[in-house]
Amino acid sequence: MQVIRAKDYADMSRKAANLIAAQILVKPNSVLGLATGSTPIGAYEELVRKHEAGDLDFSKVKSINLDEYKGLSPDNDQSYRYFMNDHLFNHVNIDKANTNVPNGLEPDAEKACREYDEIIAASGGIDLQLLGLGHNGHIGFNEPADEFSKGTNCVNLTKSTIDANKRFFASEADVPTQAYTMGCASIMGAKKILLVVSGKDKAPILKKVICGPVTPQVPASLLQLHPDAIVIADEDALSEI
Ligand code: GLP
Repeated sequence: MQVIRAKDYADMSRKAANLIAAQILVKPNSVLGLATGSTPIGAYEELVRKHEAGDLDFSKVKSINLDEYKGLSPDNDQSYRYFMNDHLFNHVNIDKANTNVPNGLEPDAEKACREYDEIIAASGGIDLQLLGLGHNGHIGFNEPADEFSKGTNCVNLTKSTIDANKRFFASEADVPTQAYTMGCASIMGAKKILLVVSGKDKAPILKKVICGPVTPQVPASLLQLHPDAIVIADEDALSEI
């Protein structure tokens, strides 16, 4: 695991965007694993800037997002499909037909998960997987558990995740209680992983992720075992290490 220290959120975002841009430059038809949450927003803004400056071409890029709330339609402004359109896809020349997010409207969880695993398998493998970090160490929506998940699965969101995400919804009652998420084993299958972490509130969990034991109680700790995992974190997030 390589740890890159960034000065602050803006620096972390630029460094992450540079790495993603380099990936697209050396392999224009890259398969990008993408993430939502507030942390990657700055990196997406940088990527849009690079595209507008004529430095980044997304025309051959494919994307596979980590997760989606079960029950939310792509038009719902809290859905992760809406988030991706809003923060990235609507502003670059990616072909939306080449972008994938789990189908939140599929009520049959087994079907939704199986279909997403087929999409991941058919992509030929994720070249670069971008990840954010939940306060309880979750990646995607893989919550602390007794064992690491494998393929796409339907999860019951923990109270801490619902609490963390309710700021985006009108009320707590509007926060979905379930989500579809790519599994930990699928995430580990990516050739390269880039975890972005910012802020003092993430410092205690980042310490566990980097320095603690590998345990499904801290899903992101699994990244210690990946041969090419990079953490870009700002000084606040690294303040306990
Ligand atoms: C959500 C997403 C995760 C994300 C996490 C952290 O739960 N499913 O993929 O990493 O939030 O979000 P933030 O970056 O806003 O702290």
